[in-house]
Amino acid sequence: MKYKLTPSTTFTGTHKVAPDKSISHRSIMFGSLANGVTRVTNFLEGEDALSTLQAFRDMGVQIERDGDKVTIYGVGMNGLKAPQRELDMGNSGTSMRLLSGILSAQSFDSTMTGDPSLSKRPMERVAKPLRQMGAVVATTGDKGTPPMTITGGQTLSAIHYEMPMASAQVKSCLLLAGLWAKGETVVIEPEITRDHTERMLTAFGYDVKVTPLQNGNEIRLMGGGTLTACDIEVPADISSSAFFMVAGAIASNGDVVLPKVGINPTRTGVIDILRLMGADITLENQTLVGGEPVADICVKSSKLHGIEIPLHLVPLAIDEFPVIFIASACATGKTILRGAEELRVKESDRIQVMADGLKTLGIDCTVLDDGIEIVGKGESEFVFGGGEIECHHDHRIAMSFAVASLRASDEIVINGTETVATSFPNFAKLVKEAGLNLEVVE
Ligand code: S3P
Repeated sequence: MKYKLTPSTTFTGTHKVAPDKSISHRSIMFGSLANGVTRVTNFLEGEDALSTLQAFRDMGVQIERDGDKVTIYGVGMNGLKAPQRELDMGNSGTSMRLLSGILSAQSFDSTMTGDPSLSKRPMERVAKPLRQMGAVVATTGDKGTPPMTITGGQTLSAIHYEMPMASAQVKSCLLLAGLWAKGETVVIEPEITRDHTERMLTAFGYDVKVTPLQNGNEIRLMGGGTLTACDIEVPADISSSAFFMVAGAIASNGDVVLPKVGINPTRTGVIDILRLMGADITLENQTLVGGEPVADICVKSSKLHGIEIPLHLVPLAIDEFPVIFIASACATGKTILRGAEELRVKESDRIQVMADGLKTLGIDCTVLDDGIEIVGKGESEFVFGGGEIECHHDHRIAMSFAVASLRASDEIVINGTETVATSFPNFAKLVKEAGLNLEVVE
């Protein structure tokens, strides 16, 4: 599938962007392990979250879905059943890494596979500490990639683990394994990472202790407890909103309102970075929904300027950099990102793949080991030329370059856009309503 975009200059309206992916995954996992019935509203009907849902169905959990409404009949901490087949995690690193923690504690064996993108991603970052807890976990090849095979029937002991990288997936994996481990699991993050696992465990009645350290947090929980079902309303995903925020800011006629977006402070780096670049972003109707802060995000056309992205904001905006790079190209002056080596092990190597695409569209940028320098062309009406982009099974690359058409002089063709359905199934429809000239070619 491809997107063909001819230039447009308008990006306006009120748009309900896709529900939060991280929270949708966790709602299925915790709901399945809880005692009682969990009702989820505004569940993300994207392939990634549906991979998690299918995996729990494959392990015997009754889950009913009616569009974005999901009812999960929890089986309790010891109620999962051996799957009859390999668990297919599709494109979803979150599913595989978080599930590895759960599967390590089960009485049965399991194997998880993934698509070509997921099959290249590092799994030893979870396998190693899980082995330290007593799990028997095998990854594949010398790079430690999927498939992952987990031998059940082990007794896990708690771990005290200082994570070598800022990863919410590793943290969550170990906290999940820790639910079944003997003793108190302690995870220390080198920097703040998204805390949906901690919040949702608390919402399900599990005692989780979080102590702020100099940079990240220390998170503790005792094994052996239970989860109690609760209802979850999923907010709109700030990562999906980021495409609309940048589009609203770079369009010459930009003015968008994005209702009920999750603004959990561990996720709002993109707002801080865009504001530092001069974006006109306001938050309205701030409130709490199911333990998560939400707000309506309003963005208007803005004159952006290049910045050095503050290091502490990097993990708080980790999924939004592809589209922040588009904003940087539309700024005046240079933008410099460092400390973002994690971008190289996302759905694609997002530093290299974005640099290749930016260069194709005429942007001067320099790839660094842990980041990128982008020379903005914000003084021109047309920042990008036309060209053909490859998105390497990475949804966020596809959506980022679609946004670039708001400042392009010529047609942009994006190849391999089917993965947009992993996180934002109605992206094409919504951005067309907002003003992009986008044609989907099957
Ligand atoms: C996620 C954590 C992040 C993020 C991913 C979702 C999560 O990954 O990039 O899209 O839901 O825990 P890392 O933990 O690898 O940083």
